[in-house]
Amino acid sequence: MSTASPAASTAKSDAAAAFARGLEGIVAGESAICSVEQGKLIYRGYEIHDLAEHATFEQVAFLLLVGHKPSEHELVKFKHEVVAERALASQVVAFLESMGGYLASGRAVPMDVLRTSVSILGHLDPDCQDNSPAANLRKSKRLLAKIPTIIGHMQNVIDGKSIIGREHGGDPTLSHAANLLYLMTGHKPAHPYERVLDVSLILYAEHDFNASTFTSRVIAGTLSDMHGAVCGGIAALKGPLHGGANEMAMEMLKEIMHDVGEAKIGTAAVDEWMQKAFDTKRKLMGFGHRVYKNGDHRAPILHKLGRTLAETDQKNPGGHSAAKWFALGEQVQKIMLDKKNIHPNVDFPCGLTYFTMGIPVPQYTPIFVASRITGWCAHISEQHANNRLIRPLSAYTGPAEKNWLG
Ligand code: COA
Repeated sequence: MSTASPAASTAKSDAAAAFARGLEGIVAGESAICSVEQGKLIYRGYEIHDLAEHATFEQVAFLLLVGHKPSEHELVKFKHEVVAERALASQVVAFLESMGGYLASGRAVPMDVLRTSVSILGHLDPDCQDNSPAANLRKSKRLLAKIPTIIGHMQNVIDGKSIIGREHGGDPTLSHAANLLYLMTGHKPAHPYERVLDVSLILYAEHDFNASTFTSRVIAGTLSDMHGAVCGGIAALKGPLHGGANEMAMEMLKEIMHDVGEAKIGTAAVDEWMQKAFDTKRKLMGFGHRVYKNGDHRAPILHKLGRTLAETDQKNPGGHSAAKWFALGEQVQKIMLDKKNIHPNVDFPCGLTYFTMGIPVPQYTPIFVASRITGWCAHISEQHANNRLIRPLSAYTGPAEKNWLG
């Protein structure tokens, strides 16, 4: 016999009516930060093509975190504040150094090491337990500043190099994008590299109630702190169905290149590889999207920039010319569209573009974090400022009620 109260039963039947697997199509809250409705991607009123063409990542970060387009004076101040926060405390550097062997052997992966580093940052942040708007903004700027430094130092440790920019978190004269590349490699990037990374950061910065942002909001909705909510966001982003897809898309292309051979790119051999993948119902990473069924707005923007870089690039990532990788990527895209009517999402050109730039594959999703931290922090602050606990119901599918004593 059911012991559920009448009120609980009513809530249950309402829930059953609204149930959608994976919350597909469900509006789970309100937000003034981003819109993916009506065939456009908009950050606080500005359309993504407009931002990718005319804005810098620092401007977009300000827009998302503060809520409006920065004036010249506001931007200078914001950049100055962020640059001043780039260096890491010795405890975080020591942790990263201690992970060298684990990272090099693959026992630890960069996304997890980044997550733990953010957790340590929380312990050290004087505002950690303060969820007020002012404290949240201060913490957002610190996280924005320090995440590229974590990624750079981590890569130095993996490469067995001494830490670059230990004292100041890089070169204070460099932009966010250029400093990230500098911290990873020790080389100041040429302008086209800086610009392509900058645009990719703009494209990745925000995407309404995606899985990681929603995770962050659920955590913030319990009135837990920003660092905890960001750690949850990083864990969610790591998954291959979400941010981890940029790494997996490139791994898949490497697999095709290996199996088919460079000489057979552009021939039916690639179609045959793809057909086998379709026959075994394999998910092809970097394709499909829960919201965009007719194509991801961001993908063509990044594809065009990455392809231009590949055409002029002298590097041979993975032992093949960058242009060959793009030729393979374009063939795979065409087959997916012709046979399955599934478009690439932004992670597909991102994988190709970062590979062209010589960025190590396991750092693609951490770089996504270096950008999405702005969206997460904006959402966490918005949730704290107008909170209601996020607590849905489930549709019970377990056994009927039984007596414990039989
Ligand atoms: N490769 C192969 N088939 C795919 C596919 C992909 N990447 N994405 C979707 N499909 C197929 C599904 O198998 C399903 O086919 P079916 O109806 O015959 O079963 C159909 O398209 C609908 O897909 P569905 O899984 O319902 O879409 P979703 O909205 O639940 O999934 C993703 C969205 C993103 C999880 C899914 O497209 C995916 O797993 N993509 C690969 C991972 C990825 O790139 N993630 C980054 C997203 S930005």
